[in-house]
Amino acid sequence: MSELIIAPSILSLDYSKFESQCDELCASEAKWLHFDVMDGHFVPNLTFGPDILKGYKKRCPDLVMDVHLMVEDPTFFAPVFIDAGADVITFHYEVFNDEEKCIELARKIHALGAKAGISIKPKTLAERLKNILPEVDLVLIMSVEPGFGGQAFMAAMLDKVRVLRQQIDADQLACVIEIDGGIKDQTGKLAVDAGVDVLVAGSYVFKGDIKANVHTLKCLK
Ligand code: DX5
Ligand code: ZN
Repeated sequence: MSELIIAPSILSLDYSKFESQCDELCASEAKWLHFDVMDGHFVPNLTFGPDILKGYKKRCPDLVMDVHLMVEDPTFFAPVFIDAGADVITFHYEVFNDEEKCIELARKIHALGAKAGISIKPKTLAERLKNILPEVDLVLIMSVEPGFGGQAFMAAMLDKVRVLRQQIDADQLACVIEIDGGIKDQTGKLAVDAGVDVLVAGSYVFKGDIKANVHTLKCLK
């Protein structure tokens, strides 16, 4: 049984406490840091560009930089974020709605030396990813509509996790399953039991004691 990875989403970090919250993250059991890059078009919210990632990379050099691109043009932005230090680049299936184009971008990301991930929004079926899974390192199931932190977990998304877990195990694929949106202790447990490898959590981790909250999630497996 592989180790459960916790990926705090910096969307919920309190920038008035940047230094202390970074210190707490570094001292926690989090191995990854999740960056929600939003362009105001693919989702109705705007976040940050590559310079912010460069800052975190310097501040938290031991963490895996996990970039979730919620942008209309991931082909343009993937190399930009890889140059800035991204280790994992995840883009959305819905940008292309075409498996060949998704595979093409995953291969470009690999050629640039990063890991590639594919994500689906709540209304997109897991079956759409069947032929893409062998080409990616990660599949990200959105358990809220992308765009904002602090939304309620959509439990129906756990069925997608089970479908993907079955395919990945049956075909012995080297692809991890990540879930993003509404993850706290109870919902995180449901996700882990369904077969998730990476828990993204924003509002839950940054509310209160970061180190203790990460520890609670880490103990779910
Ligand atoms: C939503 C983002 C999430 C978000 C999760 O579009 O992709 O990563 O930060 O936030 P919580 O954990 O608060 O639902
Ligand atoms: Zn995300």
